[in-house]
Amino acid sequence: MARTIRVGALISGGGTNLQAILDAAAAGKIDAEVVFTGSDNPWAKGLVRAEKAGVPVFVADYAETVRQEKARPGGPRLPEGLDLGSLLARQGVMDAAVDPDRAQRFFALRAAWEARLLEEMNRFDWDLLVLAGFMRLLTPYFLDRASPDPEQPRIMNIHPALLPAFPGGDGYGDTFRHGCKVGGCTVHFVDCGEDSGPIIGQKAYAVDPGDDLAAIRKKGLALEWQLFPECIQLFAENRLKITRRPCPAPGEPDRMRKVVEVLEKPMGG
Ligand code: GAR
Repeated sequence: MARTIRVGALISGGGTNLQAILDAAAAGKIDAEVVFTGSDNPWAKGLVRAEKAGVPVFVADYAETVRQEKARPGGPRLPEGLDLGSLLARQGVMDAAVDPDRAQRFFALRAAWEARLLEEMNRFDWDLLVLAGFMRLLTPYFLDRASPDPEQPRIMNIHPALLPAFPGGDGYGDTFRHGCKVGGCTVHFVDCGEDSGPIIGQKAYAVDPGDDLAAIRKKGLALEWQLFPECIQLFAENRLKITRRPCPAPGEPDRMRKVVEVLEKPMGG
């Protein structure tokens, strides 16, 4: 019997993945309880879904925070304890050397907003954070604080493509535009890059000759709604183990990559 884990959810939009998780929890299909739902977007329809299920909600409004911080004399207020130089060196979402000023501005604003997000989240006790259609990249400032143990990551994201193909904001669009014959979805732990963290689970569908983008999205979402609860259940059952695998690259013969091993039995069980 798995423990019941406390799940926090972050969303940006419609929240159909959140709904699938809420439904699976309510039906006793997963040993999980959603303890909060937060959004960067005050208009996210998924907030209403959470409220209907009796889940506390909050908004850490990204656009509003950026507006306020840009207007602040002297520039954005950096959160206490933030070393912007080390954040820039560790983030994996852009080449900061191309335009260092732009990168500094972007990450200073992002971290200022993340400090607000963390303040909201810190009101709750939670075991796992799920990004369920959450459309903001998170920086090492946030990740260090929300998921401090690299051997036991606790932030999962769902992505609408078979990673590492098509990271970014339009997985189904990319699948369609490339004429893929197979598409899918991925749940992975979040690291400092864009959709680059260790993969937990994937599901695939066939793209049929007549499928348009709407058909692809429909097939993909139906699989997302199965995959995310399944991965949450594996976490609840303590069956996800981070291991390392040789992953040599040109000039880096000793490079290793973190992967997720899905155990038959719970760790330590
Ligand atoms: C889903 O397709 C999810 O995979 C995607 O946004 C959609 C949200 O739908 N997430 C990303 O693209 C993250 N980069 P939902 O709000 O109905 O769950």
